[in-house]
Amino acid sequence: MATKSVSVLFVASEMLGLAKTGGLADVALYLPQALQCAGQTVNVFIPYYKQIAQKQQSAQQVHHFCLPTPVGHSDIEYHVRSIEHQGLSVYLVDCPHYFDRLSLYGEHNLGYADNGERFAFFCAAVLQTCFEFSLAPKIIHCNDWHTALVPFLLKTRFGEDGLFQDTRAIFTVHNAAFQGTYPRNQMWMIPEISGHFIGKIQQEHHDINLLKCGILYADKITAVSPNYAAELLTDLGSHGIASAFRERSEDLFGILNGCDYQCWDPQHDPLIPHNYDIDHLQNKSKCKQFLQESLGLPVRSVAVYGMVCRLTEQKGVHLVIPALREFLRHQVQVVVMGTGDLALAGQLHALAMQFPDRFVFMTTYTEEHAHQIEAGCDYFLMPSLFEPCGLNQIYSLAYGTLPIVRDVGGLRDTVNDYDREPHCATGFVFQEPSCLALLNLMRRSLLFYLQEPKEFQRLRKNAMRTKFLWSTTVTQYQQVYQSAQLDVFGSQEES
Ligand code: GLC
Repeated sequence: MATKSVSVLFVASEMLGLAKTGGLADVALYLPQALQCAGQTVNVFIPYYKQIAQKQQSAQQVHHFCLPTPVGHSDIEYHVRSIEHQGLSVYLVDCPHYFDRLSLYGEHNLGYADNGERFAFFCAAVLQTCFEFSLAPKIIHCNDWHTALVPFLLKTRFGEDGLFQDTRAIFTVHNAAFQGTYPRNQMWMIPEISGHFIGKIQQEHHDINLLKCGILYADKITAVSPNYAAELLTDLGSHGIASAFRERSEDLFGILNGCDYQCWDPQHDPLIPHNYDIDHLQNKSKCKQFLQESLGLPVRSVAVYGMVCRLTEQKGVHLVIPALREFLRHQVQVVVMGTGDLALAGQLHALAMQFPDRFVFMTTYTEEHAHQIEAGCDYFLMPSLFEPCGLNQIYSLAYGTLPIVRDVGGLRDTVNDYDREPHCATGFVFQEPSCLALLNLMRRSLLFYLQEPKEFQRLRKNAMRTKFLWSTTVTQYQQVYQSAQLDVFGSQEES
């Protein structure tokens, strides 16, 4: 059955090229682009952060609006700037009080205390703007807790509103560890919450759990990989809110993110020193040599391991550090690039001092180095404690850099383990979230590299042949959009 073309409003807290802290930003660019390629009309809403204001902006139209607030408060004035970004029409919600700050969500590893209020405003402003523009999308596609009040407000404040009668809300969970739990009084501009007790979104200490708003009020919910969708139904995988996901299990779908192979293609990548493809892998060795030189490591034919990530527990950095203390005794080279937790960064610095010709820690993230690490390494480490989808292991596959991952979330959906599925293997997978399990597998991968070079090349080619196309992802989202709309028409017919 052909998918009906619907117009989609994509709402997110970050977007690649404008403001980015993590993989969400990539999805907020590539998914709308792919939807547009599939014939949908797409608009994107994100906040107008200082970072965006500082960039040279192309032509923009500016609209002035006022968000009505409850009695006793002054209405909030804001602007909406509409720009064209990488072929997409993007609306930027500009309210300096909330978004003209040094960073997107916080400073010195601490979230801004009023994040609940900031994003409550953002959600209310998105719908208010639609209302002012008489913009009635068929689908409003929201992402993570920052946008979770949109589905809530659509069902409550705008539930009776004719404009949105055909609008359905989709809520995508990129990371359920971040739930947006804030004191109820931060929701002062949302009287539907501040003036009512709604038990199901309530948390201890009068806090409101915004993620639950998205889960419980959206028409359909998606998670960024099938395995993560299954994990969200468990207490561990959902970070304690499994009951909300279980309540919506019939409307919960797992859809794997795609990869932007225009940006991540070793054959055409302008950021790597030598381009290569599956039939010309000699140039991958040259990339390795270049990486060693640029990192100041001796140019040797040893196995090189890379890791690019935020320095957080989620990414398993606290497992990697003790594992590296042992692993670096072998003839190997390892490079870690990432920013985040200062204590973890300190330990990585200490390792670099201890093993200067085997280990490099890069404290500033650059796209260029991310590409050069993918191209120049033999293995890529991703021992995440949890990983909703994960993008770097997908990039690694494309670059023939075998991922070493934990059997969790989207990592399970994207990497085939050599021991379990030798024929179609693309990497190595371990189970237990322990330093020892990781160290054992790293040692196993080193022996494999040294003793079975032919098998290593076969896996490398398997990896490079693996593709996760956005066009496939989009087809699945369109099916979810369509089912959200069919539900409505079904229920209208019944009444
Ligand atoms: C979050 C998740 C990551 C996922 C990304 C994009 O950053 O932690 O696993 O790939 O969102 O969906």
